[in-house]
Amino acid sequence: MKVINVIAELKEIVTSLKKQGKTIGFVPTMGYFHEGHLTLMRTAAEKTDYVVASIFVNPLQFGAGEDFEEYPRDLERDISLADSTGVKLVFTPGTAEMYPTGYATFVEVGQLTDKLCGGSRPGHFRGVATVVTKLFNIVNPDIAFFGQKDAQQALVLKKMAEDLNINVEIEIVPIVREPDGLAMSSRNKYLSSEERKSALVLSKALSLAQALIKSGARNTVELKREIINFISREPAARIDYVDILSFPGLKEIENINGQVIVALAVFIAGTRLIDNVILEV
Ligand code: PAF
Repeated sequence: MKVINVIAELKEIVTSLKKQGKTIGFVPTMGYFHEGHLTLMRTAAEKTDYVVASIFVNPLQFGAGEDFEEYPRDLERDISLADSTGVKLVFTPGTAEMYPTGYATFVEVGQLTDKLCGGSRPGHFRGVATVVTKLFNIVNPDIAFFGQKDAQQALVLKKMAEDLNINVEIEIVPIVREPDGLAMSSRNKYLSSEERKSALVLSKALSLAQALIKSGARNTVELKREIINFISREPAARIDYVDILSFPGLKEIENINGQVIVALAVFIAGTRLIDNVILEV
């Protein structure tokens, strides 16, 4: 497995692979791999000839006061884990390689970005769309793989690729959970063992929503009230948002009908966690 941190070198490798008719799978990440990342890489290895994974903690998508500095990093461990999944190349650019002095171009996706994480993290999706556009231009992948845990991110990037005529297929891979239900996330590392128990309130709240919908509940205001009440009973939890929107349009709905996403962002002590479920009724 190759490890490359220079854009020009990666472009050369990709150009030669494309000439040989190889398909390229791409898994963009911010590193500190868990089973969710590794599942994306294994899926990519099954579906494409040559898998590139990138590791870059993108400063542009973190707001002031967020955890850019503290974001967990362990490059050596990540490289050996990627190697075990069938990834052929890991791209590990530095910040100056991605955003040299004088960098001035940004990508903004409208509509889908005003709700959920876009509402509570202003500028976040501008940072994500900008870095992913650059990565798509560098890697030129046939298929890029994203986790459903960041469902809004995947939708925003699909829209971006469509609107900007980027030739890439975007595949969304289901959420990988710990045996007790906690969605895997690099940020779970921030949780103490007590907070780790409290964090189960997210997946439990989604199970409650699923059960209520299964038993016939349809009104989104009432459902949200039930979910909020449930989460509020956990003392360590502070709700950022609880929402039920149409999927994939992310439109406000009064009653559930068709495909919807139930999405949550909850602070457990200082750690902001997200989770979601996509349902069809
Ligand atoms: O999902 C992530 O890890 C990041 O938002 C991404 C897509 C790698 C862009 O920095």
